[in-house]
Formats: sequence, C-alpha cells, structure tokens
Amino acid sequence: MNLLENISQLATCRPDGGQGDIHTIADAALVWDAGTIRWVGPRAELPSEYLAARRVDAGGGLVIPGLVDCHTHLAFAGWRAEEFELRLRGRSYFEIAAAGGGIARTMRLTRAASEDELAARAHGFLREMLALGVTTVECKSGYGLDRDHELGLLRVYAALARAQPVRLVPTFLGAHVVPPEYRDDRAGYLSLLTDELLPAIARERLATYCDVFVERSAFTVEEARRLLLAARALGLGAKLHADQLSAGGGAELAAELGAASADHLECASDAGIAAMAGAGVVAVSLPLASLYLGQSPAPARRWIEAGAAVAVATDFNPGSAPSYHLPFALTLACILQRMTPAEALKGATIIAARAVGLEATVGSLEPGKAADFAILDAPDVEHWLYHLRANACRTTVIAGRPEWRASAAKSSGEAAPGSP
Ligand code: NIG
Ligand code: FE
Repeated sequence: MNLLENISQLATCRPDGGQGDIHTIADAALVWDAGTIRWVGPRAELPSEYLAARRVDAGGGLVIPGLVDCHTHLAFAGWRAEEFELRLRGRSYFEIAAAGGGIARTMRLTRAASEDELAARAHGFLREMLALGVTTVECKSGYGLDRDHELGLLRVYAALARAQPVRLVPTFLGAHVVPPEYRDDRAGYLSLLTDELLPAIARERLATYCDVFVERSAFTVEEARRLLLAARALGLGAKLHADQLSAGGGAELAAELGAASADHLECASDAGIAAMAGAGVVAVSLPLASLYLGQSPAPARRWIEAGAAVAVATDFNPGSAPSYHLPFALTLACILQRMTPAEALKGATIIAARAVGLEATVGSLEPGKAADFAILDAPDVEHWLYHLRANACRTTVIAGRPEWRASAAKSSGEAAPGSP
C-alpha cells in the first residue's frame, strides 16, 4: 500500500459534470496498491486503515491523472523540415502533396526503414512523452500504405506495447491517402484495405480502431463509410480525420456511425458538431496542427457550448504537427481556443480516455482505476498551463510504478504555494 501526500492540489478529472468540472481537492492524499487506486480525498479525511501505508512525498506539487494523447502518428521515418519552410513561403499543404511531398514523402522514407529502426525511434518519442506526464498514447499506422508496411507499423506498436510502460492504443490508418502505385485504381486500393488488410489486422488483433482521412486529397465520405462499416463488422471501432482543410461532411458521418471520435474539425459545420454532441462522439481538437498549418483555430469554445465533449491531443506527425508536447497543446487550447485550463485538462484525461475506449481504466483518479498519474511542479492546474515551461513534470507513475523522475536540478520549487 502506498500513500502520496503533500499535494497542493489533486485534480481527479472524474467524468461527471461538464467539461470544466475536474473535481479538484486541496491538500489531498492518494492511496494505491499493486497498480490500482484505493482511495483519494482530502488528507485530513484519510481513513485510519491507510495510516501505515508507505509514504511518498509529492513535494507540495499538483497531481493529475496520467495524460492521454488520443491522436498521434507515432511511428514514421525522416522529417519534413523543408516543407515547413515551403509553407512559410506561401506554398499550401495541398500543393506540396500534389508535388509528391507530404504524406507520400513520409511513406517513401517509412517503407525504406526497418521495423527495428521505426521501433527504436518511436520508443525514444515515448520516453520523452512519458517525461511530460503522458501515460497513454493512441498511435496510428498510415505511412506504410501497402500490405506489408501497414502491418509492419502495427506490429511495431504491438512490440512497443510489450517493451515499455506507456499504454498504447493502436489505430489502423491505411486510408490516410491513396498511395502513388494505386493513383489510377482507387477501387483496387479500397479492396486491398477491406478484403485483405482489415481481416488480417482483426485476426492478429493489431488495432483497436480504424481511422479514415476524409478530405478532397484523401477519401470521400462514401468511401469512409464503407471502410468503417467493414472495420466495425470485424470488431474495430471508428475514428475520423474530419473536416480539417475543407468542410466535407466528416462530422456528420462520425455521428451517423457512432464513432469514438472525430478529429481536427477546423472546418466542421455547426450541424455536424451538434449531431456529434447528440451521438456522444468525442470532438478531438488538435491545436498544434492548426497552428503549424496557419489555420484559424477550431472553435472549441463553441463546441463545448453546443454540448460536445472536447478532447485535446497533439496529432504528432512529421508534417502538420511535429511536436509531441501535449502540455504545450493544452496551453494553446487555452490561448487560441479559449478553453479554460480545467477544460483543457479534462480534454487530455478522462475525455481523451473515452476517445480511445479506455475510460473505465485510465483518465481519472478514482478508486478502482489504474494508478497512472503525474506530479507537476505547480500549485494548481491554472498555474501549470499558464506558465509555459520546457517541462513542469517531476514524476510520472504508471500502474503504481514510477517510470520517470526529473533530476533534482530541474525542480524550480514553483510548487510551493506563495512562491514568487
Ligand atoms: O493529422 N490529416 C492527415 N494526417 C496528418 C498529417 C500527416 C502528415 O502530414 O504527414 C494530420 O494532420
Ligand atoms: Fe492526424
């Protein structure tokens, strides 16, 4: 039995209430045993049966559930810094893609890499995410775009799930774009996805979700519906890259299918968002992607007011969002989308857990749930997301085990209430 104390504030992020209800407890204590939370509440109310537990000092910091990054393209080879500069000089994402850059460029680099190389790099990214307090990561395929390389990316995730502590949720994104060798045979590529890849993935249990990029440079609503229904028949849940660069009915399709989430949504219609809210589809906001592509931020404030549950994630990928800094994405959600710090945190914990189907296990600090949490050098949630730092995280715990600790030199003592 373990007892975490000296906590200035603990945000339980229990699901009840609205987006901003994170159910904070001042001067809290947290008890866990063998990977599972047993008790959480004000320290003054600690039941006497836990007094003998092994004590752990939170250093007067903020304790939050382990962060859930519910949208990443984690495994890929190479980078695309030259496209970053091209966009700054005025070329559009579509123009770069049409000239053979974009997703197709990362596909070529990824196909040329070995699974060991891809795994080693993704493992390195996961170590750095863990250091930021991230304990669960959704990870998409989508840079293989043929049978062997798509299955290869999903096997990389399966191997990483066994080799390191961050919880992974694999998503099949074979429908990212039509690869060049099928340019004149879309139907052939769609058959490959539905008739060969999806059954193989289901057989090997390589993915929990199937995702489709619905966009004029990628797939139509009708193609996405067909694919996601085929995936559902094999037991995979649905996700959508929807209405990112143009309005295309993706949000409406997500509602129709009862998808777990629809993501991006910068150009989604109000009717689409209302339909998603009604159907309980999580709206995933990706402010880093909007920022990097120079788009107006998605109107997340309006989505919340329309009754939608809003998650915030990084979209980490080498093109539109080359950063896995989830706390930075949360600060952006506050500044650019006028979400409050509490709303942003709920969007990267219990709501993000819902977007990946893990809300019964992770995403909030409640008895019976996994002891996944982060101790941050901040007095409260508002201060944490207001003061942008390289990293405020001191300790990350997964299933009750400390998996990452900041060196003492990194702590600025900001957590102490009343510090300047
Ligand atoms: O989520 N929108 C499609 N896919 C990615 C971009 C991938 C890339 O540019 O490599 C995204 O933004
Ligand atoms: Fe994405």
